[in-house]
Formats: sequence, C-alpha cells, structure tokens
Amino acid sequence: MLPSMHGILGSASFLCQRPLRRTSQKLFQAWHSTCGLDSRTCTEEDAKGKGSLEDFHAKLAAGPSLQHFLQGVTHHVQETHPLPAEAEEASAPYLGPSTLTGPPRKVYLETYGCQMNVSDTEIAWSVLQKSGYRRTTRLEEADVILLVTCSIREKAEQTIWNRLNHLKAVKLKRPASQGALRIGILGCMAERLKEKILDQERLVDVVAGPDAYRDLPHLLALAESGQQAANVLLSLEETYADILPIQTCPSATSAFVSIMRGCDNMCSYCIVPFTRGRERSRPLASILQEVQMLSDQGVKEVTLLGQNVNSYRDTSEVQFLSAAPSRLSRGFSTIYKPKQGGLRFAELLDRVSAIDPEMRIRFTSPHPKDFPDEVFQLMKERHNICKQLHLPVQSGSTRVLEAMRRGYTREAYLELVQHIHDSLPGVTLSSDIIAGFCGETEADHQQTVSLIHEVRYNTAFIFAYSERQKTRAFHRLKDDVPPDVKHRRVKELMDVFREGALQANAAAVGHMQVVLVEGPSKRSTLELSGRNDGNIKVIFPDVEMDDGTDSGSVVHAQPGDYVLVKISSANSQTLKGIALRRTTLRESAAFG
Ligand code: 5AD
Ligand code: SF4
Repeated sequence: MLPSMHGILGSASFLCQRPLRRTSQKLFQAWHSTCGLDSRTCTEEDAKGKGSLEDFHAKLAAGPSLQHFLQGVTHHVQETHPLPAEAEEASAPYLGPSTLTGPPRKVYLETYGCQMNVSDTEIAWSVLQKSGYRRTTRLEEADVILLVTCSIREKAEQTIWNRLNHLKAVKLKRPASQGALRIGILGCMAERLKEKILDQERLVDVVAGPDAYRDLPHLLALAESGQQAANVLLSLEETYADILPIQTCPSATSAFVSIMRGCDNMCSYCIVPFTRGRERSRPLASILQEVQMLSDQGVKEVTLLGQNVNSYRDTSEVQFLSAAPSRLSRGFSTIYKPKQGGLRFAELLDRVSAIDPEMRIRFTSPHPKDFPDEVFQLMKERHNICKQLHLPVQSGSTRVLEAMRRGYTREAYLELVQHIHDSLPGVTLSSDIIAGFCGETEADHQQTVSLIHEVRYNTAFIFAYSERQKTRAFHRLKDDVPPDVKHRRVKELMDVFREGALQANAAAVGHMQVVLVEGPSKRSTLELSGRNDGNIKVIFPDVEMDDGTDSGSVVHAQPGDYVLVKISSANSQTLKGIALRRTTLRESAAFG
C-alpha cells in the first residue's frame, strides 16, 4: 500500500474512537459532540479546549497504543458476533456494524453522475463489506442509505436534494423497532458542500468525500451513536489501489477499472479539480492485477477510467522515474509545467491489452492534449483495443476555448481529428460540448455548430453551461448567456449532432461488425442487444447461429459472446442487424 494521506486520517480516526475503549456509549457521544462534526479537525485538545498539540502527542505517546485499543475492539466483536469478514482480518482497523447495534446492517447504495461514481460505489461497497455490512437492493429493508453524488452541474445537485426530500419521509416513517435509518452523502457533492449538507439537511448522518471511503465504517459507527459525522479530506495520493472493487452486477460482461483520480487541468468552468482533488495515478501492478482478475471471471470488456486517463503517469516504482518527460499532442498546451518521468498511458495500455486477447479495452475520459502517437500506434496494432475515442471538444470557437482554458484552438483540435482518422481508419468519435459558456456569442455558437457538422461524432453529450462556485469562471467571468438562449443553443447543437450521427451510423449498413452480447434487448426478449467496437448499441434477432467452431453445431448467443452481425438499418443511436455466427476477437481480426 502507498504511504498515503490515509495515515493522517487513521490517526484522526483513532482520536475520535478512543473513548469507545472505555465501553461507555454515553462518554463516546459526549466526546464526539464536543469534537464537532469533522474527524479531520477532531483532536483531544479541541475536545478540552486547552493545551498545545505537541503536549497532547506527548501524552498520547505515553498512553496505550493504537494496536492495544484496536485489539480490544476486535476481540469484543469476535466474542459476541463472529462475522466472516472480521474473523478473517483480525486487525481490521474499524468497528464492525454489529459492535454498536447487534446484527449486521444492510446498506443500500444509489449512484448518480459519471462512470467514475459507478467505480467509487464499488470501492465504497468493498470497504463496507469488509467491515461486515450486507448489501440490499431493496430500499425498504435498508438500515443505511448511501447516495454517491455528482456536482458537475446545478441540475445534478438538485436531483440529490429532491431525493433527500423523499428519503426524509422514508426515514421518518420507519418503525422505531427497526432502529434508526442512517443516510449518507458520498462523492463530489459531499466534497463541495462539506458540513453545509449536515446543517442544511438534518436527516443526513454521514458526509464522505471521494477520498474518504476507507473511513466509511468509522463514520457510520459514529452515526450509529446518534452523531453526524463527516470526512472530506482530499488526498494527494489516495488511489484505493489495494481495494478490489466489488462489481454491482457480478454477471456483467463489462467492467470499469479506475486507473487515476483527480484532475490538474483546471478548465475554467469545471468543479472537478475542487471536488476530486489533484491528479494521481494508481500503480500499474494493481491495475494489471484487477484486469487479470476480471479476465479470470470471464469479463469481456474493460473500460479504463479516470478524469484525464491519458495523462496517466505511474511514479510508484524507481525505474519508472527515469522515463522521458510527458509529450503533448501537436498544437496543445497545459496550464501546468510538463510533468517529468513516470510510466505513461501508452505503456499501461500496452500491458493491459496484452492480458487477455479476447477482452476488449476502452478508456474514458481522455483530454485531447495527451495523445502522443504511440497511443494511436498501439490502438492500431492491438485488435482488442477498441477503435473508439472520446475527444471532448467543449466548444468550436477558439475564443471560447481560450476562456475555458482548454489549451488548444479549434484548428489544433480539427488537425488532431484528421490525424486520428489517418492513424485509425474507421474510428468512432464522441465528445462533450458546453453551450452558452460565459461570453459565448451567436458567432461562437455557430463555430460549434460547424465543428460538430465537420467532425460527425457518433455520440455527443451536450450540456448547458452551469456556473459552479470556486471555479475560475465563477470568479473571473460573467455567466451572461440567458437560460433560454443556452437551451436553444443546446437544441441546435443536438440537431446538428443527430444529423451527423445518423450519417455516420448509416455508413455501417451492409457491413459486418463484431458485437459483444450484453443480454436481451429492452424492447423484446426475442432480440439480443450488444455493442460494436465503436460502443454503439446493436440489436439483432435471438436466433440459432453457427457456434463458430466449424463443428456444424448451432447455438443461441449468450451474454459475453462475440457475434458477427451484418448491419441492416441504423438510426442516430442504434444499429440493427442479422446474426451470422459466433466468433472471437482474434478470428474476426484475422479476417479484417
Ligand atoms: N457546466 C456544464 N457542463 C459542464 N461540464 C463540466 N463542467 C460543466 C459546467 N460547469 C461538462 C463538460 C465535461 C463533462 C463531464 O461535463 O463537458 O467534459
Ligand atoms: Fe474538468 Fe477539464 Fe479536468 Fe475534465 S479536464 S475534469 S473538464 S477540469
């Protein structure tokens, strides 16, 4: 495990847990209410309100050790309620859910926002499961409800406030015999609003920022004592490298693997660097281990995840440090100094894609600036790296891009697109676009319209600009495009995008594509649904087909199978086709 900021959290946790050693629930509550809400700031001196921190550390050093205290707790847990997870890990540093309240508590997790939050939910659940919690998918039977939240736009936060209003009623209706229902806010909104959530929403018991999931059992233990608890400390090093996420749907054919966290780009509109903190990469070895495990489980598609995946830079091993400085895409710049050394994204992609030739590899979300040619070269050479790129442009106007601090011009972006088409024929492109950013004129907007028209993305996520406190745009620029104009522009961008996507998808009609089957289609159980290499949904009839072994046998394709499909029709979102035979990635690559 990396020497992370978690060490600091650990000692803060110890200070707050210490009164439990006296096995007095009352004392515990009194201690924590004096400490305040945030375990970061909770020291014995805060509690007493006198003396220096050094003084306190000296007293602490002379007293019983952390181990002494933890052993006592663990021993107590094993004697009264032996839980498999705790029995395995005798030195688990947190209290199990049974310590304070009896049988294991059931947790209901709800995820909002981006794929990073899906991955974070898996990490949070892994931490809680190790502490003896059980998971439920039924809200009615939950003892703890945790919302993994998003702050990227005002609307995303409003959804959470509405949900909390609903949960308030659920909490108040719960019979006393079932014990109190605890509610926690995790992720970006927890980080952005910190203790304000606890003040504003009295029914929230726990607030945990994106780097505080290890602390969840501790925070929930505090909540069980009737206190509100928060940990919103951001770390420079936390990557949860040693925590194997537990997939929400274990039978899924695809999985997300987080490879880095945080972002240093500081685009002027974006709250992410403030809610998720500085950029840091998960060590290569732990990523390879997770991908190997997923391959052994039969997972057929892995998406490498991060706020800025292609600026991956692993500095965890001495030999990686001598690597050449990071190279940017031609015509692109950063607001930070070029970073020195470290094992880069192309090498990671090389190693990950070599694990299982029958496993598709994708990545998201990259920044257009971090695309040295090695990445495209590797994508071209490896049949299992999907020829699909998310290339968020944000705006088609150089003037607006400058105000956004994106580090490129319209021309440099379009040159990169051309270079990608030359390097990866048939590539599928997607984008994120913001309409109505500060100072965006009608002429700027038309530049975005024409860029979308020119690039012809297969998929695009188009948003109205939403001002976020703390960002550079909030401090320095004026949110001066009226809401109705923003929404009209979003609609115009959507229209031009759909037109291009329809043309791009229509070009696939009559061609053969390899589709990874996900399961029955939502509309009809007589049809199967899957994704092609470009991540576009493909629907086809669930009929018997050649099993692909040349034995003459026929099969119905199952989730996780690759099927060769001849595309017969297309709209702007979906392709339809006819299944020809089951296949493998290697076989289909050999036949082009
Ligand atoms: N307003 C609107 N959209 C935003 N995004 C990020 N911040 C904002 C904001 N303040 C969009 C960007 C980013 C995507 C994840 O969300 O397009 O790429
Ligand atoms: Fe936000 Fe820009 Fe970082 Fe993406 S690259 S997370 S838009 S700051």
